Amino acid sequence: MSVVWHDVECGSYGEDLSLWRSLAASHGDPVLDVGAGTGRVTLDLARAGYRVTALDRDPDLIRALAERSATVRVGRNVQIVDVSSQAPVTTVVADAREFDLGERRFPLVIVPMQTVQLLGGAQGRAGFLRCARRHLTAGGALAVAIAEVLDLYEVVDGQPAPLPDVREEDGFVYSSQPIAVRCDHRGFVLERRRETVSPAGDRTVEQDLIRLDRLTARGLEREAKAAGFTSAGRRSVPPTPEYSGSEVVILRA
Ligand SMILES: C[S@@+](CC[C@H](N)C(=O)[O-])C[C@H]1O[C@@H](n2cnc3c(N)ncnc32)[C@H](O)[C@@H]1O
Repeated sequence: MSVVWHDVECGSYGEDLSLWRSLAASHGDPVLDVGAGTGRVTLDLARAGYRVTALDRDPDLIRALAERSATVRVGRNVQIVDVSSQAPVTTVVADAREFDLGERRFPLVIVPMQTVQLLGGAQGRAGFLRCARRHLTAGGALAVAIAEVLDLYEVVDGQPAPLPDVREEDGFVYSSQPIAVRCDHRGFVLERRRETVSPAGDRTVEQDLIRLDRLTARGLEREAKAAGFTSAGRRSVPPTPEYSGSEVVILRA
């Protein structure tokens, strides 16, 4: 995904941040953030003083995250480079289903925003659980946010629609309009309409589809048990008007 669309569609979400901070406070650092994107959670934890390793398979997102981890934005047009105010961030480009960070071990591995439902089903999750367990310290925790159910809808012309996510950058206006959430036997398909308006007023429109694997907290706990984890409870992130809520499954190595 391009950096700008990632920022448009994920960047403004903040409902889960206090949960990740409280887990870092109780488990300690370094924290491994899996599917870190451009660093929404990584950078929040780093600003709170926790060392974080950010892992994502998309090199463009990881590059943007690395640049941002050395930059504190102040105001609209002012940038002050100030790395002293935050803990160091390490970035890794790797697939969550098969990563190997050598001897590095973490007391806390987190997977925010339903990323575990992007891994292509049970086989992908099994690979991820194996890798996560190998990189946890003894007794360390893996915390995974999932959406068991999503409200299904389809925007019909003339009917009220969810508000679009909008961002302006370098004179371009990016707008991402949720169009539908559908489900089938494998899970959910989220459809968005992405529109870009250039400074000259040229308009381009594209469709984006994201597939989320169907997954319940109980099902994930069962898979994790088979991978050697024990269940250590669940936490909830409440829904907001723009985003569905999630269940965070906590698993102990
Ligand atoms: C919904 S975004 C979440 C981004 C970020 N964690 C947040 O909460 O804002 C999902 C992220 O997972 C990454 N991702 C998807 N499949 C992956 C895989 N197999 N391995 C590593 N990263 C993956 C995507 O590149 C994307 O950055």
